[in-house]
Amino acid sequence: MKLHDASLNIIRYGQAPSGAYVASPTFSQYGYAWLRDGTWTAYAMDCVGQHDSARAFYSWIGQTLLNHQSHFEKLFNKCARNEPLDETDYLPTRFTLDGFVDHDQFWWNFQLDGYGTWLWGLAQHIELVPDSDLWASLRPAVTLTVQYLSALWQSANYDCWEEFRDKIHTSTLAALYGGLSAIRRIEPGLVPDHLPEQIQSYILQNCVSAGHFRKYVGSSAVDASLLWVAVPYRVVEVTDPRFIATVQRIEQEIHRPGGGVYRYAADTYYGGGEWILLTAFLAWTYIELGRPADARRLMTWIESQVTPAGELPEQVSAHLLDPSRYPEWEQKWGTVACPLLWSHAMVLIVESLLEKQA
Ligand code: BGC
Repeated sequence: MKLHDASLNIIRYGQAPSGAYVASPTFSQYGYAWLRDGTWTAYAMDCVGQHDSARAFYSWIGQTLLNHQSHFEKLFNKCARNEPLDETDYLPTRFTLDGFVDHDQFWWNFQLDGYGTWLWGLAQHIELVPDSDLWASLRPAVTLTVQYLSALWQSANYDCWEEFRDKIHTSTLAALYGGLSAIRRIEPGLVPDHLPEQIQSYILQNCVSAGHFRKYVGSSAVDASLLWVAVPYRVVEVTDPRFIATVQRIEQEIHRPGGGVYRYAADTYYGGGEWILLTAFLAWTYIELGRPADARRLMTWIESQVTPAGELPEQVSAHLLDPSRYPEWEQKWGTVACPLLWSHAMVLIVESLLEKQA
């Protein structure tokens, strides 16, 4: 209960008057609003019945993307003329809390997954709290996003960890599939015919290796974000043998027994710690697989990581994959982000699912 209340407070306090959620209010690099982090946070607020907060976030994204309409259109025009795209042609992965792009700070901006994630989250919100005014006001931004994803989904782009620009990432494609299919449920005419199925069949043909989903096309590694393939994006069901094999590899290779979940075995960001939010995603997966006791065990570990101030970090550094790579990050950016809103959001999501089990 204490963590529940602290999480709500941290999220409320981290929501700007604009509606944007800051990724972390204290970490030097995370004073911005990411579509990815923000959507999970809004989804968590929907899960605990705080729909006003989620609504404010989606309205903010809608307005922000519309304010960047000329940016989208420039890109669409270049695509129509088959002109090569520059890095600055893509839409960013994060905005200032007022909805601007911070051109003074370099960031690994071309990441498509957040654009699929926000579509998915918005559809969940609309299904939970039918709101025709909100939908009408967001339709133009949804349309721009769908057009953006239709044009670019086959392009290599940074993954959800803002790495590997030259690869095509399975969890990114899963987010696009999930977002586009969810929007199609709300308004079928907004999504080009068969686009979600094209993405799904691309994933099944190119993103499976040795019977499990793989981190990116050409890789044989697993990444914990592969859980998204089924939970929640449903490219396949949780019972699909390829998904089950993926969960098993995640358990064997990047889940520390008795501890948390790493992003991937070769991670060196802050030495590669155990991520709270990924541990929660594995818990969510266990709930869907009918393993609530395993989910509770992971949640107990998460609770044991709360700082005396009631905060959860992005990652826990006690058992690093590569401790020699920790100091360089601390010198560059300071200690690990804490609190991270996305970590707190995941706790609220999993708690709400566990309550339904009880
Ligand atoms: C993570 C991203 C996240 C961002 C803000 C990065 O280090 O890799 O997934 O969106 O931090 O929390």
